[in-house]
Amino acid sequence: MPVQISPSILSADFSDLAGEIARVSAAADWVHVDVMDNHFVPNLTIGLPVVERLAEVSPLPLDCHLMITDVDRWAPGYAEAGAASVTFHVEAAEAPEAVARNLRALGARAGMALKPATPVDDYADLLPGLDMLLLMTVEPGFGGQRFLDTVLPKIRRARELVSASGLDVWLQVDGGLSAETIERCADAGADVFVAGSAVYGADDPSAAVQALRAQASRATAQSWWCRG
Ligand code: DX5
Ligand code: ZN
Repeated sequence: MPVQISPSILSADFSDLAGEIARVSAAADWVHVDVMDNHFVPNLTIGLPVVERLAEVSPLPLDCHLMITDVDRWAPGYAEAGAASVTFHVEAAEAPEAVARNLRALGARAGMALKPATPVDDYADLLPGLDMLLLMTVEPGFGGQRFLDTVLPKIRRARELVSASGLDVWLQVDGGLSAETIERCADAGADVFVAGSAVYGADDPSAAVQALRAQASRATAQSWWCRG
C-alpha cells in the first residue's frame, strides 16, 4: 500500500480555496478539509455549504475531518455534500458504528478519529466498519502545533491491530507533520499523512508534498524491510 498525502487547507488562503487546492492537485492524493464548530474544539472554520462547493470544484477527492459535536446527526450531510472520505471523532459520537455505516451507505469512506489521549484498544472492535482510523498527533483545533511524540506507540499499536484484523483500514496521522516528524510516523505504521503548515507554509506547496511523500515512502519501505 503506497503512502498517501492529504494537504490541509486550514493553513491555506481562505479567500481562494479553489486556487489553493489547485496548487497541490498534481502532487497530492486528497485535500484535507478541517471542519470545526467552536464546540468540540475552540476554533471555528467552515461547514457544509463550503464543503459542498469545494466538492464541485476540487480535482482531488475531499478528506473531511469533522471536529464537531453531534456527529450522529451531522456527519452524513458531509457525505451527501460530496466528500469522498468523512472522518468523525469517536469522542463526539453516540453510536460510532451506526455513523460509519451511514457514511458508507452514502458512498463515502468512513473514517474515525481519536484525540491523542484516547486509547485505540478500546475501539478495536469497530475496525470492520471503518475505512480509515485517524490518530491525532496534536490536540485537534489548530494548525501549526508541535507534533506529539507520545502518540507514536499508539500508531504502532493501531498498525498491529489493523494487521492482525486482516482488514484494509488506512491509518492516518494529522498534526505537526513535517520533514522532521513524518518519518517517525511512517516507521510506526501510518500510511496517510495530513500536513497543513508544512505544505502551505512552503514557497512551493507541490514540491513540499512530493518531498514529504518521498520521505514517508522511504521510511515505510525501510520499516517493512526491518520487520522482514
Ligand atoms: C488540527 C487539524 C489539522 C491541521 C494540521 O486540528 O486537524 O488538520 O490542519 O495542521 P499542521 O500540519 O500545521 O499541524
Ligand atoms: Zn485535520
